[in-house]
Amino acid sequence: MNTSRLAVLILMLAVAAFILVPSLSWAADDGATIYRTKCAACHGVDGAGKPAAKIPSLISDDAKKATDANLTDGIANGGASKKPGHAYETKGMTPDQIKMIVSYIRELQKK
Ligand code: HEC
Repeated sequence: MNTSRLAVLILMLAVAAFILVPSLSWAADDGATIYRTKCAACHGVDGAGKPAAKIPSLISDDAKKATDANLTDGIANGGASKKPGHAYETKGMTPDQIKMIVSYIRELQKK
């Protein structure tokens, strides 16, 4: 393989990476995806929580009554009691991502 062919190959790989990477970050910016990767291990894929382990349901009547602001604060800052496990904003989650999770939780509540 001569040098210019190698250069073309490298260029093609660079273009392929450029096309692939934005689509990967898009996937991570979807409320359902973030919920499944960051929350489902504890709160369950369906949001029902694990009562035996004292992990609250996110689809209970109480959770349905919580305002978007309540849920957002709970996720971003750990809520009124500042639970460190839920201070996702300090762990690099953006307000937009938290908003997407809140709307995903609302979707789960409708099922
Ligand atoms: C390590 C397990 C764990 C993970 C991961 C987790 N949670 Fe929780 N979550 C809990 C527990 C336990 C509580 C109960 C409050 C407490 O004592 O911390 C809770 C409470 C909540 C509450 C408040 C519900 C209520 O009725 O008070 C919301 C909302 C919530 N979690 C959303 C989320 C979201 C959204 C994510 C993902 C970004 C997430 N949680 C990730 C364990 C977890």
